[in-house]
Amino acid sequence: MRTKMKIALSAAIAMGLGLANTATAFEPGDWLVRAGASYVNPASDNSDIVSVESASSFTINFTYMMTDVWAIEVLAAYPFKHDIELLDGTKVGSTKHLPPTVSLQYHFRPTEKFQPYVGIGLNYTTFFSEKTTGPLEGTDLKLGDSWGLGGEIGFDVMFNDDWFFNANARYLDIDTKAKLDGNSLGKVNIDPWVFGGHIGFRFK
Ligand code: NI
Repeated sequence: MRTKMKIALSAAIAMGLGLANTATAFEPGDWLVRAGASYVNPASDNSDIVSVESASSFTINFTYMMTDVWAIEVLAAYPFKHDIELLDGTKVGSTKHLPPTVSLQYHFRPTEKFQPYVGIGLNYTTFFSEKTTGPLEGTDLKLGDSWGLGGEIGFDVMFNDDWFFNANARYLDIDTKAKLDGNSLGKVNIDPWVFGGHIGFRFK
């Protein structure tokens, strides 16, 4: 009797583990959608003239599992609005930007509840709604588009078969050429770290 119970118990545990594993495994063909917010923290030494301040916004990313470990991710966002200051802290303007990024991801533990991953990708950043204020009021500020590489690390924690929590950190190489009234202000290295927290849903 005791042995039978033990066997039954072992079988139940094995089944439970088996179910837990299949329940949390991302599979080829799955789409993962993660929605939440991100904080963009630009490098502190942006240029000799101005500094670009940090900003937060909504982010959403779509990931397609090509295999159980390799995936393609597209990052989309609501525009981030950054203040632009002189090096002494005087606000001279603001800009908005969108940083769509396509990344190739590798997921290390596709069958576990805790799923870390790394990614490398290509970022395109477009700036718009540049505004000037204070000492630069009335001048025309333009920031050029930027293409650069991006790297990311992150993890998903499965709540159940469908829902999960995600946290990630990205580094984006964003450099823009700034112009004031058509005159070059030189290159501004924004090169931000982007920290995000998201709730994810898996479509299978
Ligand atoms: Ni850079």
